[in-house]
Amino acid sequence: MEKTVRTLAEFEAEAVRFAHALVPREGGATLVTLSGELGAGKTAFIKAVAKAFGVEETVTSPTFVLEKIYELGSEASKFERLVHIDAYRLEGGSDLAPLGFDELMQDAGNLILLEWPEKVADALQDISIRISILVQPDGIRTISYE
Ligand SMILES: Nc1ncnc2c1ncn2[C@@H]1O[C@H](COP(=O)(O)OP(=O)(O)OP(=O)(O)O)[C@@H](O)[C@H]1O
Ligand SMILES: [Mg+2]
Repeated sequence: MEKTVRTLAEFEAEAVRFAHALVPREGGATLVTLSGELGAGKTAFIKAVAKAFGVEETVTSPTFVLEKIYELGSEASKFERLVHIDAYRLEGGSDLAPLGFDELMQDAGNLILLEWPEKVADALQDISIRISILVQPDGIRTISYE
């Protein structure tokens, strides 16, 4: 599926729509990967999803932190935790181990949103949805889901 958006507000609204439509995977974490060039809007998309799930604190780019975990904890939420991973600085799937990735993947309460899956492709299994964000020269973005 593909959506084309013209403004940041439309982009965020699309991320909120995605969050509401997302169906948790049974038997393990729901892993969503986000691909796209630097500045495409991967972090912006995750911020909007986090807000839709009730995260009130500011979602910062984890580029230096690599991983941030937000407790969702509300009975209204489909997930117990939102895990934001930025793999940009990782050099292979084995770099995910220190982040506790395998354990995180086993917990069906986790929604894992991972930027730069290309960097750790060898360690990724059971990807629920692959999101790609394509920026056109005029700033219009095409978001595709597969
Ligand atoms: N239509 C739009 N959609 C998404 N982001 C937009 C749009 N217009 C402007 N922006 C801005 O572009 C920036 C996108 O940066 P963001 O950090 O989300 O990119 P990223 O894909 O995570 O990059 P990186 O690979 O460096 O992590 C944000 O500052 C956002 O506010
Ligand atoms: Mg980012």
